[in-house]
Amino acid sequence: MLLNLLLLQCRAGFESECAAEFMQHCVDVGQSGFPRFDAQSGFVLFELYGDALAVIQAVSFRSLIFTRQWCACLPPFEQLPADDRLSVLLPAMTELPVCAELLAEVPDTTAGRELLPFAGKLASAMAQRLRQQGVMLPRKARADWRMHLFVLSGRHLLLGVSPRRNGSTLEMGIRRLKFPGAAPSRSTLKLEEAWHWFVPRAEWDARLGGGKTAVDLGAAPGGWTWQLVRQGMFVSAVDNGPMAESLMETGQVTHHREDAFGFAPGKPVDWMVCDVADKPARVAELMLQWALQGWCQEMIFNLKLPMKKRYQAVQQCLEEIAEGLEAAGIRFQLSARHLYHDREEITCHLDLRVS
Ligand SMILES: C[S@@+](CC[C@H](N)C(=O)[O-])C[C@H]1O[C@@H](n2cnc3c(N)ncnc32)[C@H](O)[C@@H]1O
Repeated sequence: MLLNLLLLQCRAGFESECAAEFMQHCVDVGQSGFPRFDAQSGFVLFELYGDALAVIQAVSFRSLIFTRQWCACLPPFEQLPADDRLSVLLPAMTELPVCAELLAEVPDTTAGRELLPFAGKLASAMAQRLRQQGVMLPRKARADWRMHLFVLSGRHLLLGVSPRRNGSTLEMGIRRLKFPGAAPSRSTLKLEEAWHWFVPRAEWDARLGGGKTAVDLGAAPGGWTWQLVRQGMFVSAVDNGPMAESLMETGQVTHHREDAFGFAPGKPVDWMVCDVADKPARVAELMLQWALQGWCQEMIFNLKLPMKKRYQAVQQCLEEIAEGLEAAGIRFQLSARHLYHDREEITCHLDLRVS
């Protein structure tokens, strides 16, 4: 069966950004289609004119900012019998490529999250039966595809697959992190999640550890600085606001009560992170300046999104940075992600070590 439906999961309220971005990527790989979504639903259904299995392999998942998780789907199941769902679902699943795992997913909304226990139970019952029938491989086996069950109600759901190497390993693409009680603010989770996404775990020691130096712009009260200190870094924290006393007592933090837009480090640092609450274009310009000056090796920064035309604003900021660096002949890797712990903002990573 030709699959022509793609499910894109996103943060509720960002469906139009998710759809517009995916539409652009589809065009880039020579495909077309149209999105369907309800505002605040937390997902987009993208109907393709071509083969969804081909598109989901051609578009790079990591290049998408607003899509948290995705899969190529069978036509929706809309009237499932409540007393025997498996008799309808199991035969249909044999139409999908062979998988070794099944992720239980729901829209990340208040109503959706209430369905999570049901989705989990249904997914384990399905996986068990499929393994008994030899349709699904044992959990530890290597398969090229991962199966998804996306539950919208007891009678309405989607079934699909994503490439194991081109998607999120996490259910609903959500990185759940425990808030470290000693951190001065919940913002701390944004930087921790950013590292999980942008820095492969095997490289953490080399890239984050070993007494590196860092600048934290817009640092107060210190949630991001806390993460940097935890990695053993020595941090210049720039903010007119107060930093948490506990951080200052570590001896690893110097507090500069200055304007981030006028701050220059005495000498280049390994990392610069920036969570300054300001217009995204202004922050992008500041990031470009840091890169052009060669003041850091890597940076992670937040772009606070405007109320309207959020996708265009993101594109403009990223283009401005990329064009500025290209014009200067500086090699770089720039990527961005709407992280689970981001709200009206996205997080970007600029890697200048490739120069
Ligand atoms: C979202 S908060 C940062 C939270 C911090 N990352 C944390 O984890 O605790 C934004 C900060 O940006 C600071 N800020 C805004 N404009 C600034 C500027 N021009 N220079 C320095 N700091 C600025 C504010 O004082 C505020 O503390």
